[in-house]
Amino acid sequence: MSINMQSYRKSYEKSSLDEHDLAQNPIDQFQKWIKEAEVSNTIEEVNAMTLTTLDTNGYPRPRVVLLKKVDANGFYFYTNYDSKKGKAIEANNKVSISFFWPALERQVIILGTAQKLSNEESEAYFHSRPKGSQIGAIVSPQSSPIPDRDYLEKRLEELTNAYKDKEVIPRPAHWGGYVVRPYSIEFWQGRPNRLHDRVEYLREGETWIKQRLAP
Ligand SMILES: Cc1cc2nc3c(=O)[nH]c(=O)nc-3n(C[C@H](O)[C@H](O)[C@H](O)COP(=O)(O)O)c2cc1C
Repeated sequence: MSINMQSYRKSYEKSSLDEHDLAQNPIDQFQKWIKEAEVSNTIEEVNAMTLTTLDTNGYPRPRVVLLKKVDANGFYFYTNYDSKKGKAIEANNKVSISFFWPALERQVIILGTAQKLSNEESEAYFHSRPKGSQIGAIVSPQSSPIPDRDYLEKRLEELTNAYKDKEVIPRPAHWGGYVVRPYSIEFWQGRPNRLHDRVEYLREGETWIKQRLAP
């Protein structure tokens, strides 16, 4: 039986946004919102974000990755550099990131450029992960076609045995992080009657300007 999505109606009434009350710096504003999402205890994986890259045919490709850090440099995530997203970023490092926190009726959209993290930084994060995740990163040729599920299970077993008595699992060179340096960040707060609040920050040199956008 199909569902009737046309009759779905939701009035957004939880909060509002006044551009004059928002932080001067959008990173500070983002830190405030993600903290509020976390302490609301209503959202699983508050750090799950949709990262969109453009492939070499010009097709945008979205997928979810996890935000692992945010600071003045931008938004950090980790992945396989040989994956579809890794290859796309190699050819065109302009990306977008978006968050949707339904219980708070909030969306954030970030445009920016992705840069690889230093080996030291990727190394430090790789070794902070559980051993199983470290081995998983070696096992999976992310985004490449594989014959079947067994292929992964066998490689996992082989590598788990190989590293059984080893303290340190070497980070594969194809696994590491990126930081997305933002160029624009939009904060969206749902409001009644579809008259939502949208405030966009645009980078101008080392400062940011804010503007309200029509919903
Ligand atoms: C909740 C969630 C979190 C994920 N986190 C990551 C992540 O941090 N890094 C990653 O490479 N893939 C992550 N994935 C898997 C990606 O969505 C995607 O399948 C994978 O990175 C391959 O994408 P690509 O082929 O477009 O490069 C996550 C998926 C979900 C649903």
